Parts: sequence; structure tokens; C-alpha cells
Amino acid sequence: MSLVSITEMLIKAREGKYAVGAFNILDYNSMRVVVETARELQAPVIVQTSEKTVLFWGFKPIVSWIKELAEDANVPVAIHLDHCKDLSIIKNCIDAGWSSVMIDASSRPLEENIALSQQVVKMAKFHGISVEAELGEIGGIEEDISINEENAHLAGVEQSKIFLEKVKVDCFAPAIGTAHGLYKGEPKIAFDRLKEISLLSDTPLALHGGTGLSEDVFKKCIALGCSKINISTQLKYAFIDGFLNYYKSKPTEYNPLTILKAQYNALKQAVAENIMLFGSNQKV
Ligand code: 13P
Repeated sequence: MSLVSITEMLIKAREGKYAVGAFNILDYNSMRVVVETARELQAPVIVQTSEKTVLFWGFKPIVSWIKELAEDANVPVAIHLDHCKDLSIIKNCIDAGWSSVMIDASSRPLEENIALSQQVVKMAKFHGISVEAELGEIGGIEEDISINEENAHLAGVEQSKIFLEKVKVDCFAPAIGTAHGLYKGEPKIAFDRLKEISLLSDTPLALHGGTGLSEDVFKKCIALGCSKINISTQLKYAFIDGFLNYYKSKPTEYNPLTILKAQYNALKQAVAENIMLFGSNQKV
């Protein structure tokens, strides 16, 4: 299959009351894990790239990897740019072949967030590419974006209404109390706020900060309209622990390919576990 945008897969997910996993990859091996695991479980999937990962590898290599992997997968695969504040990077991703992008102007006042998000929608729609945008500020650390507890704030219902009326996004990410990175205590999810925002429109909602949330939280959020769930930190841990655990068990082996295989297996377990939790298996 060729690459798809996230639009159709998320509309189907919202209607079917499941969520599509959006997994932040780090390199070709982790991208391969995400696509191959989705293929085995017959799940639509979103391969997500942070701005940092894009700049590390370059635009062209990432697109060529994903195109080749998606061709061999008989499931819908999208490549999505995660949180991006820089319009020139968004434009380069669109030109290079990304099928979906996120504009994160959530730190700006509402009118500026709306204007920048509208600009990206206009740019992306011309190429048939989907757009995610954020409102409120999601706490925690996601690569270079760090929002401390004082600055993190929930998306307002009235502001969400205005935003959704003015910006025709394919996926809306309202801050509802989740955070990027590891949770220090019990996350305080504003389910009531999520419900009110969800009732405003049929636009699929994104749940950020997926690592560390319980099955119960996932189920409630999915029932309330979250159709895209982001997982990044868990994969970073699997990537590094997969390496370390293998090395500790065979410290003298020094065989890079077996280490890559160990990383692959650790990542696969994490991706499969989440796809099953989100209920997107057998949904193609
Ligand atoms: P976690 O790092 O908490 O999994 O969050 C991922 C995310 O929301 C990326 O945008």
C-alpha cells in the first residue's frame, strides 16, 4: 500500500471507538518494528517523527524508508510530523512526502495559534496532507519542547469551540491533563473537560503523553473521542533497554546485528501491547 494521511483512519477509529497508535520512531529499525507489528496485527498505524529525529536523519532518508516499508504492508500506514513550531520544517516535510503534519502553536495566544494553524492547513490541504493542531499546553518534555507544571494548562471549552470552527484540522489535540515523559504521580486527567470538548465536533482527538497511562484511562479517553494515541517515551526506554539488557547478558559478544535484533524485539513488545490496548488490531 502507498502512504495514507491520518484523516480517514482516524474518522473510522472515532466511529468504531478504538484508537490508532502513533509511535515515535528513532531510526530505520524502530520504524520497521512499527510497520511490521501493525501488519502482523492488521492494524492501521501512524509512524511519528519528532522534529529532532527529522533533522538528525534528514528528510529524504525517512521518506524513502517509510515508502518502502508501507509498500510491503497491507495495512494503512501514515507518516506524521509530531509537535512542530517551525513552518519551514513543516513545509520541507510536506514537500519531501510526509502524509501528515502537526503544527504546535499552543504556546501562542489563541488568535495567533488559529492564524498559524490555518496557514498550515492551507499549505497541507493543497497536497492532500492531514493536519493536527494543539490547544492548551501539554506538560512534560517532548524532545526540545519542555513545559513545566506551572505553564501546562488545559484547553478551554469555549476556546476549543472557536478553534474548531476556524481551523479545519483533521485531528485536534486539546490538553486534558496528560503529560509527555514519565508521570511522577497519578496523572490527573480532566475527563469532564475531554467530554465537553469531544461533544463540540466529530473531529478525531489526539491523546498525547500516552506512556504510563493505565488501561482504564486509555479506555475512558477512547470512549470520549480520542482516536489517536501518542507513544514516545516507552519506545525510547525499549530502544535503550533492549540494547543494555542484551549487552549485560552477553558482554563479550560484540555482534551489532544481534543487538539490533534484541532492540527490535523489545520495541515490538511495546508496540504490540499498545495496539492491543487501543483496540486497533484487525481494523483494516
Ligand atoms: P509520551 O512520551 O508520554 O509517550 O508522549 C508522546 C507524545 O505525546 C508525543 O507527542
